[in-house]
Amino acid sequence: MHKVAVIPGDGIGTEVTAEAVKVLEAVAQKSSFQYETIHYPFGSDHYLETGILMPDRIYSELSEVDAVFLGAIGDPRVETGLVERAVVGGIRFDMDLYINLRPITLFAEHLCPLKEKGPEDIDFIVVRENTEDASVGSYGFFKKGTVDEVATQQMIYTRKGVERAVRYAFELARTRDRKKRVTLVDKANAVRGQDIWTRTFAEVGVEYPDIEKDHAYVDAACMWMIKNPEHFDVIVTTNIFGDIVTDLGAMLQGGMGIAACGNIHPGKTSMFEPIHGSAPKYRGQNVANPVAAIMAMQMLLDYVGEADAAARIEAAVRDLLTSRRIPSLGADSGLSTTQIGQLVIDAIAAG
Ligand code: IPM
Ligand code: MN
Repeated sequence: MHKVAVIPGDGIGTEVTAEAVKVLEAVAQKSSFQYETIHYPFGSDHYLETGILMPDRIYSELSEVDAVFLGAIGDPRVETGLVERAVVGGIRFDMDLYINLRPITLFAEHLCPLKEKGPEDIDFIVVRENTEDASVGSYGFFKKGTVDEVATQQMIYTRKGVERAVRYAFELARTRDRKKRVTLVDKANAVRGQDIWTRTFAEVGVEYPDIEKDHAYVDAACMWMIKNPEHFDVIVTTNIFGDIVTDLGAMLQGGMGIAACGNIHPGKTSMFEPIHGSAPKYRGQNVANPVAAIMAMQMLLDYVGEADAAARIEAAVRDLLTSRRIPSLGADSGLSTTQIGQLVIDAIAAG
């Protein structure tokens, strides 16, 4: 019996989560496993109604379940970043989910905006460090609102945090049937504190003689992702750079409508979500593409040991995209959120 905590969150998060949960139900029948979902209301509506962001007791409750599914967080009615930091950041930091694993896989050539690049060219994975960097929230203002204002934000890296991300990336490269290459993406030529990444990567890399060590500055990495995406196998990078390059990566896969991630602490309760945001302009319109949320559920199931169920979801999505029954991954696919969810459920049932 798998216990899954579900936090639909804000905006389109609630709509895409509903479809992902329906897919969970369909695949549980097909792969014969038992599960239970526990829904939590956290997000901006809940905050506006109750003044509660994330109650402290929640983290001990969440660490009791097998996995957490999150829709999306963000609402223009609330102060920028407040609910994101509490819910998304809260879960990542308090549960020490130190890896943000973001696969960049192209299922069908016509979905890729690059000329002459196909599924064999775009198949890499980004290991985004998930608990450090500018995201720790160490910032401040001096003389705020005056012409003399000073603003600071610290990028914090610890040896422990860097090493566990780097090590995870090397281990991952070993399991992948690709180029056996890990590319460190940083900006250590300008951000000298990132020298800790350079040194840690070199030191840990000695333990992985079978894996090629590669490096790209983040600006060049963006260029290579467009010019030669086939170069990449595993990328390991900082929290902020990983956030940025994976939106670029999402477009290589066909759009934000497919990109999913796992916030992982190996061996512990982890959290899975689409990488897209709450898209307030599409809220309540039943137009958001739920494939990214469905792929997040796929990653969740793989993580909790339901490899058969995960494979069924992936096969269904791949087939619907290659056959163009789901013609695109944007909100303009001509299909509604619920129609796409139903297509995936039907494909799983038929598979
Ligand atoms: C993401 C998001 C978050 C992040 C926001 C919502 C805080 O952009 O998961 O990619 O910056 O990590
Ligand atoms: Mn992001």
